[in-house]
Amino acid sequence: MNLKSHGFLGVALKNSQEEVLGNLYIVDRRPIADPKLYQDVLKLFAMRATAELEREQYLQRIHSLSESNSYLYKQEQIKSAHLSKALYKLEQTQVQLVHTEKIAALGQLVAGIAHEVNNPMSCIFGNLKCSKNYLQDLFEILALYQAQLPNPDSTLQDKIEEVDLDFVLEDLPNILASMEASIFRVKDIMQSLRNYSRNDTHECKKVDIHKGLDITLMILRHKLKANSERPEIQVNKNYGNLPEIFCFPGPLNQVFMNLLANTIDAFDEMNRGKSYQEIEVRPNIIEIETTVLTMKKSIQITIADNGPGMPKEVREKIFNAFFTTKPEGRGTGLGLSITWDIVTKMHKGKIECLSEIGQGTRFIMEIPQGFNFNKI
Ligand SMILES: Nc1ncnc2c1ncn2[C@@H]1O[C@H](COP(=O)(O)OP(=O)(O)O)[C@@H](O)[C@H]1O
Ligand SMILES: [Mg+2]
Repeated sequence: MNLKSHGFLGVALKNSQEEVLGNLYIVDRRPIADPKLYQDVLKLFAMRATAELEREQYLQRIHSLSESNSYLYKQEQIKSAHLSKALYKLEQTQVQLVHTEKIAALGQLVAGIAHEVNNPMSCIFGNLKCSKNYLQDLFEILALYQAQLPNPDSTLQDKIEEVDLDFVLEDLPNILASMEASIFRVKDIMQSLRNYSRNDTHECKKVDIHKGLDITLMILRHKLKANSERPEIQVNKNYGNLPEIFCFPGPLNQVFMNLLANTIDAFDEMNRGKSYQEIEVRPNIIEIETTVLTMKKSIQITIADNGPGMPKEVREKIFNAFFTTKPEGRGTGLGLSITWDIVTKMHKGKIECLSEIGQGTRFIMEIPQGFNFNKI
């Protein structure tokens, strides 16, 4: 304030809550002639100024409130995005768990059936051997009878002709031999199933990967063999000289199963609308190749097909959980995401897919060799 001033008049600017927002004053070099008048005018200005100030404050408050509101809204959005992501992951884990549980339950079921089938099978196998011996005896006795009775009477002669005895004597050993071969085959299948289910525990073991591949192919045999619509799906094996490696055999077999089952599905899709002869000209082929990558201390397993292949948009998503191009009820979209987890997380390996539409598909896996996960 100018100290030389002689006239001064001021009022406080108070809001409705009697809070002082500021001061309004007039200063003059001369004494103020009519202070009452000036005071009243000043009060009028003060009221107007207070109202303006209050309005300004109010607007500011609204502004900052809406700012914090939009901040809160944004925070809420981020939070809800986090929550839906967590929920999705939870659902995904749950479905994968159910899937794994189902596979484990299937393993137990298979083990149970293999065990149950074992007893009647041993009985058939044992009796078949016995029957062969008895039959041999009967054949010898018959030969003796024939020698001692070269000219049987007409009743016997008629019966011998009716049953075509020569043919029966020739065919019976063949029938028994084929029954025996079938029983051996069933025994083999049961043994493989037992091995398969025994490996279903999530335990790290040193195993021969080729056995796992062969068992998986055997389980899928009924899907690979020819049917009325198409010839057999050929499987070309190009196995390298692999050492036994430490791995989780059950889950790894599941990987082979997922990849091979997908290939069979892809062939089915491609063959739709084609005749048996058309398919025969360009047969469905699966190639399985194994090799040791000495430099990387790992083994490489390649499963390739000359199926329909995939466009880029599909290939980029195949390892995502729930991604499927199959109709509802046929595809879960989980096979390859589980495969990804088993190879990359469980075995610290790698898997990649090379595929072009019309060029077939190639899955290349690398599994570290001799990595004993039990010791981690
Ligand atoms: N060998 C293949 N040839 C063509 N497409 C394939 C092949 N393997 C996988 N796919 C594609 O990858 C998708 C995802 O496979 P997957 O995760 O096993 O789920 P699902 O088999 O339930 O569809 C399949 O729906 C299919 O489109
Ligand atoms: Mg699948």
